[in-house]
Amino acid sequence: MTELRGKRILVVGATGGLGSRIARRLSEAGAVLALSARDVDRLDALDLAAETIPADLHRESAAVVAEAERRLGGLDAVVIASGVVAFGPASELEPETVADLFAVNAASPIELITAALPALSRSAEEGREPAVVTISGIVAEAPTAGLAAYSASKAALAAFMVAAGRENRRAGIRLLDARPGHTETGLVTRAIAGTAPAFPAGHDADHVAGVIVDAIASGARDLPSSAF
Ligand SMILES: NC(=O)c1ccc[n+]([C@@H]2O[C@H](COP(=O)([O-])OP(=O)(O)OC[C@H]3O[C@@H](n4cnc5c(N)ncnc54)[C@H](OP(=O)(O)O)[C@@H]3O)[C@@H](O)[C@H]2O)c1
Repeated sequence: MTELRGKRILVVGATGGLGSRIARRLSEAGAVLALSARDVDRLDALDLAAETIPADLHRESAAVVAEAERRLGGLDAVVIASGVVAFGPASELEPETVADLFAVNAASPIELITAALPALSRSAEEGREPAVVTISGIVAEAPTAGLAAYSASKAALAAFMVAAGRENRRAGIRLLDARPGHTETGLVTRAIAGTAPAFPAGHDADHVAGVIVDAIASGARDLPSSAF
């Protein structure tokens, strides 16, 4: 087990359906948090004892990591719960939509992780069992019709996590990718393009957040869709 009490954790996408629930559970477990998303009012509305770092990940991923490290006096984990979705057939995808999906879902998490690795390495040297957590989703395992670009952006992130996880295992940094299926957070109503088809009822958001936080604490190294 990894002790969460006192762990210095940056949660990105902290205002989201999953990010807010993960942040609350981590806070209840005694973690010391820095929370980031774009909207400062929604960050404040979380009403958690935490540092808040409003930022748009399109431009500021590395700066968010540096600021979190400065305010927390180091970093022991980064939880990346930011993301956007788009629907529609591949033939109707606009280039701007593809660029946005890859920027928020793949490039910015990769930049965040890359920027955080030196601090996580120091955390490992101090025996603090550092971790990186991403939520790519079931589409990384089973790319889905009507979600081709979203699936591709998430598969890119999942592939990065596997490869970077192998690189950093010996250094004692754990990279954990969670791949839940459709979850009732309202994400599908906030699509940056297209309209969601009728989905069957998804996972309960509290359940998914709980599985992810339990996995951080238990030392798990992977959370496939079957874990939810
Ligand atoms: N819900 C599902 O069915 C499901 C299933 C599998 C995987 N996932 C993945 O899990 C993650 C969380 O999903 P969710 O359902 O919790 O979605 P959500 O409620 O829409 O939350 C998304 C979060 O990302 C932040 N965000 C979006 N664009 C951003 C940007 N440019 N810069 C900074 N922050 C940005 C949002 O904050 P602001 O808008 O305030 O910036 C929000 O905090 C996503 O990566 C999603 O793809 C979701």
